[in-house]
Amino acid sequence: MFTFLPPYVVFATDLVAAFLFLFGLKRMASPVTASSGISYAGVGMLAAVVVSFLYCFGVDPAARSQLGTNIVLVLLALLLGAGIAWWAGKKVAMTAMPQMVALYNGMGGGAAAGIAAMELFGGKTHGGRELSVTLLGALIGTVSLSGSCIAWAKLQGVIKKPLHIGGQQVINGAVMLAIVAVGGYVVFTVHGGAELATAMPGWIWVFFAGAFLFGLLMALPIGGADMPVLISVYNACTGLAVGLEGYVLKNPLLMIAGMVVGAAGLLLTELMAKAMNRSVAKVLFAHFGPAPAHKGGTIVGSLKPCQASDAGIFMRYAKSVIIVPGYGLAVSQGQQKLYEFVKLLQAAGVGVKFAIHPVAGRMPGQMDVLLAEAGVPYDMIFQLEDINPDFATTDVALVIGANDVVNPAARTDKSSPIYGMPILNADQAKKVYVIKRGDGKGYAGIVNALFYAPNCQMVYGDAQAVLVQMITAVRGLGAAPGGKAQK
Ligand code: TAP
Repeated sequence: MFTFLPPYVVFATDLVAAFLFLFGLKRMASPVTASSGISYAGVGMLAAVVVSFLYCFGVDPAARSQLGTNIVLVLLALLLGAGIAWWAGKKVAMTAMPQMVALYNGMGGGAAAGIAAMELFGGKTHGGRELSVTLLGALIGTVSLSGSCIAWAKLQGVIKKPLHIGGQQVINGAVMLAIVAVGGYVVFTVHGGAELATAMPGWIWVFFAGAFLFGLLMALPIGGADMPVLISVYNACTGLAVGLEGYVLKNPLLMIAGMVVGAAGLLLTELMAKAMNRSVAKVLFAHFGPAPAHKGGTIVGSLKPCQASDAGIFMRYAKSVIIVPGYGLAVSQGQQKLYEFVKLLQAAGVGVKFAIHPVAGRMPGQMDVLLAEAGVPYDMIFQLEDINPDFATTDVALVIGANDVVNPAARTDKSSPIYGMPILNADQAKKVYVIKRGDGKGYAGIVNALFYAPNCQMVYGDAQAVLVQMITAVRGLGAAPGGKAQK
């Protein structure tokens, strides 16, 4: 193929871009270097886009008459995509980030499926192996596209409850079997000498429609606390689909980028499944069928409201406080006020730590990002397995906008949808304060027995507003012991 750039320039750029992706990803492993990691990967992506754009000039001589139109279309697509991404990056609220990530993930899967569609409908794929790989990429990409749309709808609250239909396992099995049969028929017929583009378009449409339907059926029954695993599974699927289509196009950059995303998605899936103490198969397949009855567990005790100022002053005189942030903190954007309050406690000699649950919030790492944004030092932030033993010897656990991740039902109530999920042992602290706006449930939609426990008091209100009241109350006490002013 004629190329505008000499092939070695294209390969060198691909190599540099791939290196920048990997280097960027490596830097994203630590919160200290994450921001520069994103920039490195971004530069890699820019180089990849520029080189791909220059492919426009390398069209087949027979298609040169279309060159002008194609360039205009590509530029339009680039402007539109970059414009929307720029706007979304600036405008979308921190709490809506998970939905945005789900959409981007779906778009990745859709793009891989789009490449496969061009190859299949254009009859460009030759040979049984290449055709099989193209179909596999098309299947995974399309499933990821439709499944990610459902994940978006669930995170956005458009779909409020998981959809359970009797016999769903059988329906899903039948749909998958039909997809495999259609794919097999296409490969077999083309292998027998039939023209892919002219003889098969109807069956290719059926194949794509089946894959789209399977993605919907797969995602609809999953909900509540299992969403993190589903999201990371689609992440892995998108990467795999892109990698497979990279193989078909013989594009090393697509292959590397796809494999990196696929591998990262697989590792994330394993991490999320471990955080939920579930096997991936159980999350993906156990939900098919009628919804299991949740008896609601036994709730003993009552809700005990408390003034923000009283809770703030109590913590000011405590020795140790562990803070458990959750989704509600992100909703209220109270992270700056939280750290201001923490600095007041520290000035008064209180030992403060942050406890992060791996699935707190709506996106892996959301709480770490939130605290980093407020400038909380990383050595104050502890992950579940490291901090859990400390709760029993801690004076106060301050739960802010978190619910499911501190629900003791996960330990005791076998009928609970979160049974078996490791939780932060906030209930074991001597005193627990919970900041939330009302009696609203968490993402899993279940009542939290912790809130009714004898050692727990509820501080009702928006997290940021409550923290402001706590700060005012502690400041009102004047200088800390030892003469340190409470600024
Ligand atoms: P949740 O269980 O969702 O609880 C959040 C709590 O915050 C709610 O009970 C809500 O109660 C309170 N809240 C909301 N807005 C608030 C505000 N402005 N001020 C104060 N409180 C506010 O959160 P969590 O404990 O972080 O657990 C996360 C859940 O989401 C898990 O079930 C997890 O499986 C699921 N999930 C996680 C992910 C990832 S990848 N992390 C993805 C999808 C789903 P009120 O309404 O009464 O205020």
